[in-house]
Amino acid sequence: MKRILNIETIKYLGKKVKVCGWVNSRRDHGGIVFLDLRDRSGILQIVSKPDLVKEIKEEYVLEIEGTVQKRPLKMVNKELETGEVELQAEQIRVLVKSEVLPFDFKNKDSVSTLSLPTLLDYRPLTIRNEKIKAIFKVSAEVVDSFRRTLKNLDFVEFQSPNIVPVAAEGGAEIFHIDYYDYDAYLAQSPQLYKQIMLGVFERVFTVTHVYRAEPSITTRHLSEYTSLDTEMAFINSWEDLIDTCEILIKSILTDVQKDCQKELSLFNAEIPDLKVKIPRLKMREAQKIIFERTGRDNRKEPDLEPEDEREICKFAKDKYNSEFIFITHYPTKKRPFYTYPDPKDIDHTLSFDLLYRGLEIVTGGQRINDYEMLVKNIKKWGNDVKDFAFYLQAFKYGIPPEGGFALGAERIVKQLLGLENIREATPFPRDTERIDQRLSLLQKRKKTKTKPKKKSKK
Ligand code: 4AD
Repeated sequence: MKRILNIETIKYLGKKVKVCGWVNSRRDHGGIVFLDLRDRSGILQIVSKPDLVKEIKEEYVLEIEGTVQKRPLKMVNKELETGEVELQAEQIRVLVKSEVLPFDFKNKDSVSTLSLPTLLDYRPLTIRNEKIKAIFKVSAEVVDSFRRTLKNLDFVEFQSPNIVPVAAEGGAEIFHIDYYDYDAYLAQSPQLYKQIMLGVFERVFTVTHVYRAEPSITTRHLSEYTSLDTEMAFINSWEDLIDTCEILIKSILTDVQKDCQKELSLFNAEIPDLKVKIPRLKMREAQKIIFERTGRDNRKEPDLEPEDEREICKFAKDKYNSEFIFITHYPTKKRPFYTYPDPKDIDHTLSFDLLYRGLEIVTGGQRINDYEMLVKNIKKWGNDVKDFAFYLQAFKYGIPPEGGFALGAERIVKQLLGLENIREATPFPRDTERIDQRLSLLQKRKKTKTKPKKKSKK
């Protein structure tokens, strides 16, 4: 008999079927045992005689044949998609046994009682919880929708390298690696490569992991995160970029709303009203408003502090009923060398951040596409032009007016689901304390250099 998914059993009332999955829970009621069987489509209640399931414990992997029957009315479970039916087990085969679980992480409330470090220490198990799984379903939808939307706008995907010879976003937060006895780095962003690729396709995007040696633990920074990056040429103005960003974000949220209803409801998460146009404010205007609203005077600061981001989002909600706000024209000295200065005010740039429910989720802007100007800026930012010679080839031979932006995938998921910590939004977070295991449990590396191997004669 061919296996069917748990969700499909509702179409097989009175029929004999075969299902497979993990034992999510077991309840013994005298002469009858109930198992909740979990597969990729959800949970199905199995009813069995005790002698058929004598040895079976949670997380055993089973293959079960039986007959689908309607549950008695008072046993209907509205929280389950299969809640009106159950499977009367006739034959059970244990595919794989499981050890006894170290603690209960199965029902959606038990995960909220466990601390984040415990959830992460036992990630291969705790990620099986339905509520945690839901986070990664939403995250997959965000990435899918990013791709779909941009393809529909005639963008082409490319693969960006993650081992790079220079720091694209400034040198401070970069991981150094030993590359056959030469210096190399883990990419902080695909910035330079997406700009080069414009000379080929005009409109490009990439979905890639990027690396930041963040020095401290915060609820919004990871050492490795997923960057959804895009770049477009022949722009008329930097505002074309903001417009594209608004279309893209709204499209992503529309898709999540359509395809992740069950997941959103587990978090009581609501999609913002997408009919509201996202307000746009210059950074200096935002600082003035924050000062007027709170008395906190950060008007001379070169960037918005996290509490400023939260406050200006409250303002956007109060004044425009918007959960988003674009902040534009960040100071030139705070942006990377490739950012275009505003010709009307060269101390500020044609750049923007998108804030969502109090947190920056996107950064973007127009780039310097003029070769001479770019060389000047590379030097001004303290870099050696030789290090950028490869990248500069593209500009020496013509790159049109252009710009782009990058969306942090974990950040949008965090904000959308109301997660407290960005570590919850990535299956295997890396930070100063952890690389799967806690670093304190690992042995520090001896500082030896790898020698390049001799080439084999093939
Ligand atoms: O603001 P960032 O550093 O900008 C860039 O990387 C530019 N190359 C983007 C561009 O196209 N101009 O990072 C972009 C986004 C941020 O807005 C944030 O959402 C996310 O990446 N981000 C992080 N997410 C998790 N952990 C970190 N350490 C992050 N750093 C940035």
